[in-house]
Amino acid sequence: MKASIALLLSSLLAPAYAGTYSISHTVLPTGFLDFFEFEAIADPTHGRVNYVNKATAVAQGLVKKASNTSYIIRADDKTVLNPSGAGRNSVRIKSTKTFTKHVAVFDVHHMPQGCGTWPAIWEVNEPQWPNGGEIDIVEGVNDQGPNAATLHTGAGCTMPASRKETGTPTLLDCNANVNGNAGCGVKFPTANSYGPAFNNNGGGWYAVERAPAGIKVWFWPRHSTTVPAGVKNGGSSVNTDNWGTPTANFPNTSCDISQHFAAHNIIINLTFCGDWAGSVYSQSGCPSTCDDYVNNNPGAFSKAYFDFASIRVYE
Ligand SMILES: *[C@@H]1O[C@H](CO)[C@@H](O)[C@H](O)[C@H]1NC(C)=O
Ligand SMILES: *[C@@H]1O[C@H](CO)[C@@H](O)[C@H](O)[C@H]1NC(C)=O
Ligand SMILES: *[C@@H]1O[C@H](CO)[C@@H](O)[C@H](O)[C@H]1NC(C)=O
Repeated sequence: MKASIALLLSSLLAPAYAGTYSISHTVLPTGFLDFFEFEAIADPTHGRVNYVNKATAVAQGLVKKASNTSYIIRADDKTVLNPSGAGRNSVRIKSTKTFTKHVAVFDVHHMPQGCGTWPAIWEVNEPQWPNGGEIDIVEGVNDQGPNAATLHTGAGCTMPASRKETGTPTLLDCNANVNGNAGCGVKFPTANSYGPAFNNNGGGWYAVERAPAGIKVWFWPRHSTTVPAGVKNGGSSVNTDNWGTPTANFPNTSCDISQHFAAHNIIINLTFCGDWAGSVYSQSGCPSTCDDYVNNNPGAFSKAYFDFASIRVYE
């Protein structure tokens, strides 16, 4: 009796559960761009892309609020490109704020699709790469699902082969300087986590938790019966302890998270071809060559867009 009262008391008096976070940023279609700045930079991954600035993106309709529940971020789908000129106009946006311990929830209706596309939702400290770490939440190329979540770090961060997660690990060394910067990835179990299958299913929710004890990524398809209420409804706080087994789990067993991960920006980018999408283009069953296809077929990129309902950050 006494023991159970003591237990009850200690649980009532406990300061906060490890997995509890409070809302710090709500990014909705109205005011969506206030959270971001544009990176009109040369693509570090050598893609057939021309990242434009905010004025150009707005003027060309590459970023726009489509409704209260829909913010569009897209590539140009109208222009035939001069093969010796700049790549296809597209957008790379980066949060002005940085985050350490946090949860981010992305409610996504649609992601870019089409041969040659290489979209990503990720977190990084660009000046300190790779020693400041990189967390790829959504990434893939040429419509090839499923999604993979991947960490890239400096030397000395590895993942155990066996972990509590629903996805399947690929490589275990997160060190960007080995294995051609493949990083330590986890392949998601369901095709509807990426590309056309994701879009045909109405998208879904991606969430990342970064804490000293580890990094976790969850994915719930749009009609999932297990999506937590706080995720679905955009709650004012979330408790990741109640979210079930993560899709990808990167524990700190043999990777000191605080040492390998600096303060991160959230980045959303869409490039074409380049180091990854270009190098596996023909294996993906795509026509012609990647650069030629991107140059000559603007209409093939009518679905090369993200559609976000919201992004919420909890700290
Ligand atoms: C886009 O995102 C990925 C992260 O997955 C990153 O490695 C890559 O450098 C970015 N590509 C471009 C073109 O900015
Ligand atoms: C969109 O939101 C605004 C205020 O945030 C509201 O006045 C308007 O009625 C909403 N429109 C729709 C179609 O829900
Ligand atoms: C892992 O995280 C826990 C909880 O934050 C911490 O107590 C422990 O020291 C960490 N271990 C390593 C190897 O970083």
